[in-house]
Amino acid sequence: MIITSCGNSEKIAKGIAKQLKAKYSPLTIGAFPDGDFYLRFHENLKGQEVVIVQGFQPSPDMSFFDVIFAGETARDLGAKRVVLVAPYLAYMRQDKRFHPGEAISSKIMGKHFSSTFDEVITIDPHLHRYKSLNEVFSCKTQCLTTNGLIGDWVKKRVRNAVIIGPDGESYQWAEVIAKHAGVECTVLHKTRFSSSHVAVKQLKPVEIKGKNVVIVDDIISTGHTIAEAAKLAKAQGAKTITAMCVHGLFADDALKIMKKAGVFKVVSTNTIGHSTNAIDVTELCVQALKK
Ligand code: R5P
Repeated sequence: MIITSCGNSEKIAKGIAKQLKAKYSPLTIGAFPDGDFYLRFHENLKGQEVVIVQGFQPSPDMSFFDVIFAGETARDLGAKRVVLVAPYLAYMRQDKRFHPGEAISSKIMGKHFSSTFDEVITIDPHLHRYKSLNEVFSCKTQCLTTNGLIGDWVKKRVRNAVIIGPDGESYQWAEVIAKHAGVECTVLHKTRFSSSHVAVKQLKPVEIKGKNVVIVDDIISTGHTIAEAAKLAKAQGAKTITAMCVHGLFADDALKIMKKAGVFKVVSTNTIGHSTNAIDVTELCVQALKK
């Protein structure tokens, strides 16, 4: 087995290679003087299983391009199996045509990746209108989750906790994480008016006063979803507010916006490299590749 990456997720790729006692082999990726794309493997791939590990942040568009070129080249060089491990898979949120004429990015990605890869493995992909990855990909897929890791983190580090899921679809992880950590949970209802304007309301009452609130989301992008949930928790007398996410995109002033709303700590997994990373997903990927 040969493990490589296209720049993002290099640390995870090297960790996987070490644990699986496989070779980590870096790619050369660059451009010709006219800007044309250039990619080169430095291994004999004939008959090998090639695993490309690439999270789609930063540079989701370039990552898309990189993995297609790497996957197609691996196949062309005789690899017997080509697998994409995408700790963070971009484009999943554009899962319908919200306005006339829009591209349904997730479908386009799925079509291309399914023809390039034998298997796509990803972690907590944004499954909202899609119920499973089979609606996006026709190749084999594995959908991994960090729920257990996040649940363990809360259990070990937050006393007297209560979990808040900031919107309807967050029940998928908020309830599981709360059960894992043995604490109570409430899931809010969110209305999004624009990327920077959301409103949340609480449907199920839960004791928040004096509690250490942990708001858990799959993605933090602009930070507005977490900020609104944090304001609600603060207004109900939360002692501390921690924001946790699988994929920390932290666009623009997300961290400032959350802090201003009362969030004192932000914790993310390393599906996207960031200073808030506190949970390592390498072992999850290793176990998936052993299947
Ligand atoms: C959306 O449905 C996701 O689960 C997240 O809640 C959302 O992506 C967070 O976005 P933002 O940080 O921009 O509010």
